[in-house]
Amino acid sequence: MNAQQQNQSLFPALTTQRLLLRKLEINDAPEIFSLRSDSRVNEYLDRPETTSLTEAKAFIEMITAGVDQNKNFYWAISLKADHKLIGTICLWNIDIENATIEVGYELLPAHQGKGLMHEALLKVIDYVFKTLAFKTIVAYTNAANKKSIKLLERNGFIANGIKEAGGEMIYALKSPSL
Ligand SMILES: CC(C)(COP(=O)(O)OP(=O)(O)OC[C@H]1O[C@@H](n2cnc3c(N)ncnc32)[C@H](O)[C@@H]1OP(=O)(O)O)[C@@H](O)C(=O)NCCC(=O)NCCS
Repeated sequence: MNAQQQNQSLFPALTTQRLLLRKLEINDAPEIFSLRSDSRVNEYLDRPETTSLTEAKAFIEMITAGVDQNKNFYWAISLKADHKLIGTICLWNIDIENATIEVGYELLPAHQGKGLMHEALLKVIDYVFKTLAFKTIVAYTNAANKKSIKLLERNGFIANGIKEAGGEMIYALKSPSL
């Protein structure tokens, strides 16, 4: 990311065969609440459960402020035919010096098992390496989170040790241009 890019909002909507990856909106609060209060989604995530719509709205406002300042990328995932949020995918912990960025993702359970996150992740990987020209994408995942591990490995991420704080597995994907 160069100085000019840092001074303007980079946030792009992305599309795949079935999905629109778009900016998060305050109207997404009910679905953000569903995601962040669902014990199946939260099972392996180190975060407090969201307990109200008000909390979900505050979360959206916080995320949107970060996106507008290019501190992170946070896409609402929708099916192309329906604007409703079904999941999210984000890029954060931006390390410009090492051209490294972390990815995170979640899908409402009703939309899992259809290859949708695989489709979203492929697009985001392409964005990181081709548009942002970063060199490495990292992901931290609980060793028991089999679905997440399967997703990462299917997309070429390689296990690279255990994170000291929290004990999560570290996965990394290097740019094909390296
Ligand atoms: C991690 C998570 C996003 C994975 O979701 P997912 O739907 O299993 O992931 P994918 O998009 O890769 O879909 C793969 C599944 O869809 C199936 N599938 C169906 N159609 C497919 C298609 N067209 N292409 C690819 N896979 C397809 C695959 O066979 C696979 O099923 P399987 O797990 O039974 O083998 C989901 O489990 C989740 O949201 N978990 C909670 C949040 C979380 O833990 N996030 C990780 C933080 S590190």
